Amino acid sequence: MNKKAIYSLLITMALLWPLYFTLSCRHHPDEIIPPVSECDTVNITYTGDVLPVLQAYCYGCHTGSNSSGGIDLSNPDHLRAVVNNGRLTGSLLHNTDYTAMPQGATLPVCDLRKILLWAQDTLFPEGACDSLNVSFAGNIRPILQLNCEGCHSSVKQAGGLNLSDYSTVVMIAGNGQLIGSVEHASGYSPMPKNGKQLSDCDIARIRKWMSDTTFVNPPEGIPCDPDTVYFEKDLLPIFLSACAKSGCHDGTNNEAPRLSDYASIMNEGVKPGNPGGSKIYEVLVTNETDDRMPYPPGSPPLPDSQIAMIYKWIMQGAQDLHCDNQPCDTTSVTFSGTIWPVIQNNCFGCHSGSNPGGGVLLQDYSTVKAAAQSGKLYGSIAYLNGYVRMPKNGSQLSQCSIRQVKKWIDGGMPAK
Ligand code: HEC
Ligand code: HEC
Ligand code: HEC
Repeated sequence: MNKKAIYSLLITMALLWPLYFTLSCRHHPDEIIPPVSECDTVNITYTGDVLPVLQAYCYGCHTGSNSSGGIDLSNPDHLRAVVNNGRLTGSLLHNTDYTAMPQGATLPVCDLRKILLWAQDTLFPEGACDSLNVSFAGNIRPILQLNCEGCHSSVKQAGGLNLSDYSTVVMIAGNGQLIGSVEHASGYSPMPKNGKQLSDCDIARIRKWMSDTTFVNPPEGIPCDPDTVYFEKDLLPIFLSACAKSGCHDGTNNEAPRLSDYASIMNEGVKPGNPGGSKIYEVLVTNETDDRMPYPPGSPPLPDSQIAMIYKWIMQGAQDLHCDNQPCDTTSVTFSGTIWPVIQNNCFGCHSGSNPGGGVLLQDYSTVKAAAQSGKLYGSIAYLNGYVRMPKNGSQLSQCSIRQVKKWIDGGMPAK
């Protein structure tokens, strides 16, 4: 063999090596779950074998507009996405990096085998791709929900990114990380991590959305209705600051149920339309001091305005609604009307009472003013170097709130 032939052989081997690796990682289901004798897996069909299992074990949480994790398994587009991107298999096998499904259980072995075999042999065709009429709410949000929010939600912020937050999506769209990571461009971490690359169609849609959008205000996001309570925007910060503190409802205490995201809060006896019958509301207003939250007995109750908001949210159906384009008013910023509501809903729970976080009190005008004068208030919410990022464990305040706080500080921190 001449030198050239040896080189090209070596190069071919180097190029094929990743392929070998990929193929050898595709285990046959037999290697994962041994066959069961009475399990007929010869001619598996969607209607005969898969659908009944999904109906029995999954549809309860994964159908309709309120589907858990945004995944509606009766919607062919969603089912195709979770099969093609590996999340269906990953969650059913309880693999790390996926949420184990069905929640709190394992499928019967035969059903599990059938679904895995079906998913392995089923490569859904992409279908016609419409990448011309792209909207954020209609196309981009679902792509992120189905492929990214498993790791990038308000609770699991892999890489510090919460992609259910519009401003974060805008940020990574603007700085090149979004397209770089989904196209597996060099210099970016390939996303979705450990999964299949997004379909060409989804990538084309993301490109189209980015070229259509000037990232100032959401192009066609859902406008926020002042009379609607939005779970993530309005309520989650309250739960994170008042309940999901470390050692309480953050999932580390076996006796205190986790209350750190929509699903875990809904698990605690929320009855849509019926606040009185909802445990989560009942514990806030009960006269039995021992049962009353926040714990321990004697803790200051949640402010009336927050209790009223939780009441209203349950009355409105306890939904996980999102909205995007809040106009940002930085012209008429006041302490009581603008700054205090932000502090009360996002910080007060950890920064009041006898043992405030970091020794910093944020419980009234004078304590907020003192934190502002020290530079720490703005430093912590704007994520400046040298300050601990706040709110702790939550996602960053909206850019609008941050600008408003700056405006208030620059204006001399008026008490009004
Ligand atoms: C009791 C409600 C419930 C049931 C039943 C349930 N799920 Fe889920 N599922 C959820 C919730 C809540 C999430 C979002 C969890 C998260 O993001 O951490 C989820 C997430 C998922 C995901 C994404 C997981 C990931 O890590 O990316 C898949 C796939 C999924 N479910 C499939 C199924 C299948 C298939 C079944 C039936 C075998 C099922 N689920 C049954 C509540 C449920
Ligand atoms: C299985 C979990 C998982 C999924 C699914 C996932 N990510 Fe990530 N992502 C991570 C982790 C972990 C990091 C941070 C560490 C790293 O870069 O690997 C990260 C980092 C990132 C970054 C920063 C990358 C960089 O180069 O600095 C971006 C942008 C990102 N993800 C976008 C996405 C998008 C968009 C999706 C969906 C198309 C997605 N991710 C799906 C786990 C995930
Ligand atoms: C879940 C509890 C929690 C929430 C919510 C929270 N903090 Fe903190 N905060 C802490 C703890 C604990 C510390 C001490 C530092 C640490 O341990 O990380 C701290 C520290 C601080 C500091 C000192 C930072 C420094 O660099 O010295 C400031 C200022 C602060 N928080 C402001 C806020 C503001 C403003 C909010 C709301 C926007 C907020 N915090 C929400 C728990 C919280």
